[in-house]
Amino acid sequence: MVTIDSIRKPILSDLAAFDEFVGDNFSAEGDLLQEMLSHVLSSRGKGIRPILTMLSAAINSPRTETDDPAARRCSKRTYLAAMLVEMIHTASLIHDDVLDAADMRRGRPSVNALWQSNNAVILGDYILARTLSIGMSSAQYDLISYLGSAMATLCEGEVLQNQHAARLDTSREDYFDIIYRKTASLLGVSASLGALSVGADREARDRMQKFGEALGMAFQIQDDILDYRRTAHTGKPSNNDLRERKITLPLIEVLDRSDEKRRVELLGLLGRCHEDESAVDALQAAVDEAAGAALAAETMKRYLERAMHHLSKFPASDARAALLDLCRYVAERDS
Ligand code: IPE
Ligand code: IPE
Ligand code: MG
Ligand code: MG
Repeated sequence: MVTIDSIRKPILSDLAAFDEFVGDNFSAEGDLLQEMLSHVLSSRGKGIRPILTMLSAAINSPRTETDDPAARRCSKRTYLAAMLVEMIHTASLIHDDVLDAADMRRGRPSVNALWQSNNAVILGDYILARTLSIGMSSAQYDLISYLGSAMATLCEGEVLQNQHAARLDTSREDYFDIIYRKTASLLGVSASLGALSVGADREARDRMQKFGEALGMAFQIQDDILDYRRTAHTGKPSNNDLRERKITLPLIEVLDRSDEKRRVELLGLLGRCHEDESAVDALQAAVDEAAGAALAAETMKRYLERAMHHLSKFPASDARAALLDLCRYVAERDS
């Protein structure tokens, strides 16, 4: 079993320096803002995106044999790139919990649960604004130029998801389009910015972007699988996708194998999930019985194979090995 700690190993001292960098850059004026910001920054999540940025920087500037393996290897420029993507992600989760009416995040009450949705919306905006202004004052415009489109794409994904949830009509193609925009695209940017931060050439940057996107597709499919696993340790409420009428891959696999009568029955149940927990239980049981999660995992594995293929073009290094472990971790994770 691959753990996130083994993936962090080649950049352990960088991750500590990165935490310090974020702490130094983020403080707020005003009691409530400061209190909310402290709550968010003290529960930072898995940190997949900054890990991806730093390992992508590392794979594109390998150590020499005489380098001290415990020494820091990333520059401030790479930390800045990692901070930009992690803070966009953090703000998007605060907003996402408002959209999804979710009361738990990272094992603790969500911002909207503690301070209401109106304050959560402002906090998400505040984090985005601070991220942009920190980026601008660094004057590293080549890195910052990716932020606008990364944020816009993520919003497009969330809106598209809402539209389909309201109509209960998410097809397999719609689903892949949604998860590309809301998740995979930012993981692609995380990886390509790591490469850009160390001056990698266009080809290497494109390859890292494709790697991050394929990994991101798999990452979101696994997130959607875990939403159906009530014993998972995600620190988030389970079955919330059903309560929000989201048709994700485990359910799509079952719908696509059902006859018309059964489809109508299942979608009827989904329509009631928002206010009826027995409908949630019934759909969870239907997806379990038809092995929806295992079928979705097959598609996830194909994305991971694609991701690993992109990595095989880079010479062997500890960073490449850690990125390969990151692919395995995505498939095995239950948190
Ligand atoms: C949650 O992302 C939202 C998705 C894109 C699935 P993460 O699972 O990376 O969240 P944290 O940052 O570790 O909490
Ligand atoms: C990912 O979707 C959210 C964002 C990209 C902001 P989810 O709604 O599945 O994320 P979780 O499960 O709440 O973390
Ligand atoms: Mg959500
Ligand atoms: Mg989810």
